[in-house]
Amino acid sequence: MSFVESCKYLFLSIFKDISMDLCKLEEYPQFSRQVAELLYSEWSKEYRLFDNIHSIDELEQLIKTYKVFIARFQKEVIGVATISDSDWGVRPDLSPWLGNVCVKPAFRKIGVGQRLVQYVLRHVDTAIYLWTYSEDLVKFYENAGFRLLQYIDKHHHYQHIYVMYFKPRLN
Ligand SMILES: CC(C)(COP(=O)(O)OP(=O)(O)OC[C@H]1O[C@@H](n2cnc3c(N)ncnc32)[C@H](O)[C@@H]1OP(=O)(O)O)[C@@H](O)C(=O)NCCC(=O)NCCS
Repeated sequence: MSFVESCKYLFLSIFKDISMDLCKLEEYPQFSRQVAELLYSEWSKEYRLFDNIHSIDELEQLIKTYKVFIARFQKEVIGVATISDSDWGVRPDLSPWLGNVCVKPAFRKIGVGQRLVQYVLRHVDTAIYLWTYSEDLVKFYENAGFRLLQYIDKHHHYQHIYVMYFKPRLN
């Protein structure tokens, strides 16, 4: 984390208050590069980067095929979440799929991720699915309204995963 980012984080974590905007990327397509950069920097840290994506350009093209939701702080994209048809076709029965939930490191642990996921869920009118590998993140998604559907011992690159679902209330 740079010095400027550290100062920003210190301020935000003390005041736990951030006047961010939540919106759909389709309303602000000029942010697609920042979205791709954020996801690329997160997923390429580990083997988690999609097998068939090798550059930020490719990722930017791919996300244009998804519904993308973003959190913005001033002109900076600080959080992303996407809805796609399924988890790379691995579980086509579980559709649509919430993925790419990611908050910029300097803005984590101050509620951005929770507010972003809750914003996404206000835009769904059918059940939606996701998976996570971390028990702590199960709690994070439960707080947003998801429930555990299935625990799988070995899935793709992961030792184990938790599949979760959210069903919107029908009025
Ligand atoms: C997961 C993530 C989106 C959460 O965003 P955030 O803005 O930090 O989350 P919030 O501040 O709204 O909520 C914080 C809570 O989420 C949970 N949490 C956050 N990051 C976590 C992580 N890396 N592992 C486990 N739990 C985490 C904790 O329960 C935390 O509560 P605490 O502050 O009491 O410890 C963010 O940490 C991130 O981008 N991580 C890297 C990408 C990733 O793993 N995405 C999830 C894929 S399923």
